[in-house]
Amino acid sequence: MKPFKQATIVGAGAMGRGIAQVLAEAGVNVMLYDTHESALTSAIKQLEAVYSRLVDKGRRSRLSCDEALARITTIVNFKDAEGSDLVIEAIIESLDAKRSVFQMVDDVVSEDCVLATNTSSLSVAAISAGVNNPGRMVGLHFFNPAALMPLVEIVPSLATDPDVLARCQSAVKAWGKSGVVAADSPGFIVNRVARPFYAEAMHMLEEGLADVPTIDWAMREIGGFKMGPFQLMDLIGHDVNYVVTETVWTQFYFDPRFRPNLTQKRLLDAGWLGRKSGKGFYDYADGASNPSATEDRVLGQVIVDRITALLFNEAADALYRNICSASDLETAMLRGVNYPKGLLQWANETGLDTIVDRLNALRDRTGDTRYRPCPLLVDRASNNQPFEC
Ligand SMILES: NC(=O)c1ccc[n+]([C@@H]2O[C@H](COP(=O)([O-])OP(=O)(O)OC[C@H]3O[C@@H](n4cnc5c(N)ncnc54)[C@H](O)[C@@H]3O)[C@@H](O)[C@H]2O)c1
Repeated sequence: MKPFKQATIVGAGAMGRGIAQVLAEAGVNVMLYDTHESALTSAIKQLEAVYSRLVDKGRRSRLSCDEALARITTIVNFKDAEGSDLVIEAIIESLDAKRSVFQMVDDVVSEDCVLATNTSSLSVAAISAGVNNPGRMVGLHFFNPAALMPLVEIVPSLATDPDVLARCQSAVKAWGKSGVVAADSPGFIVNRVARPFYAEAMHMLEEGLADVPTIDWAMREIGGFKMGPFQLMDLIGHDVNYVVTETVWTQFYFDPRFRPNLTQKRLLDAGWLGRKSGKGFYDYADGASNPSATEDRVLGQVIVDRITALLFNEAADALYRNICSASDLETAMLRGVNYPKGLLQWANETGLDTIVDRLNALRDRTGDTRYRPCPLLVDRASNNQPFEC
């Protein structure tokens, strides 16, 4: 596969500068373009600071950092991107803004330049609708922070040329990332399958089954997750996490499985965005005291069984609807959100019939169709046929 040699990244914010770092370290020459010159200056300053820290900590040689930095230049006139063989767009999450960026790109770059969007929630098909030759357009969904997160979801649209997909798969590997192929469907893999990790925790909180620290404790200590759902939502920020949830739900035509929770909406309304605003589910003020978990292992197991049942169901549904392959599903959840085990393997170990029983019991008790088991899970459970993974 022909490697990319000259990439232009449109949007020099958190993602754009992280993607620039990844590509430059892999030997690609990168031009960063942004409508705000201050964003370009700030991106370069932040990259210099990142590299200084890496050198100070002895993780990188000064020479390798200087070489990577020398591969990143900034441009204020997009015409200078003319010779690019790859353009990655990482601007604000707005369909209109992204479409107009690609119109500008289309007028400048050659017909065979590959066009990629880092969108996390918009449809790649919708973004590519206006471009000449949408066959060369693909989603390349990096995770934040791009330099550290190993996963990239590669998202072909209906129109993407298979050669473009294959070239991007090979490029992502050459950049040192794990690439998984995801259908152009709301939330792709990770942001779709992970939704119940947050939502079910909030349902249990709203029902009074357990409080915030107890649910977090159970998911860490018994479930083996690195962070509990409330800690993680506070870290991601409720503005970001709530908007992803609402977008996925809306795009799935209001399927109750993806319904957002009022609890989180109220935090957002109040401006309690989590760590970044000093308060969310927890209080981060100096000296603040937060309640302790009730370390009851029986209750903890109920919590873990309930959240994981919904995660297994969502993983099964992603397979059922051909969103991705079984092995890409496992990679995505292990490398995109650091889950302690691949969900399909974990579901097999739990027992598919046990999971179906748990989901049916929740649906019968609540009457809520968000708990309906995926037909693939039901079929495999009744045929005693574990997932191949
Ligand atoms: N932040 C995340 O956690 C994350 C993770 C994965 C994907 N994404 C996606 O990546 C994209 C960028 O997110 P971000 O967090 O880096 O945003 P950001 O707000 O940090 O940066 C966006 C940058 O785009 C620039 N910009 C806006 N309109 C522009 C235009 N028309 N032309 C050129 N530059 C323009 C802004 O000046 C800004 O510097 C979004 O689509 C987002 O959904 C974000």
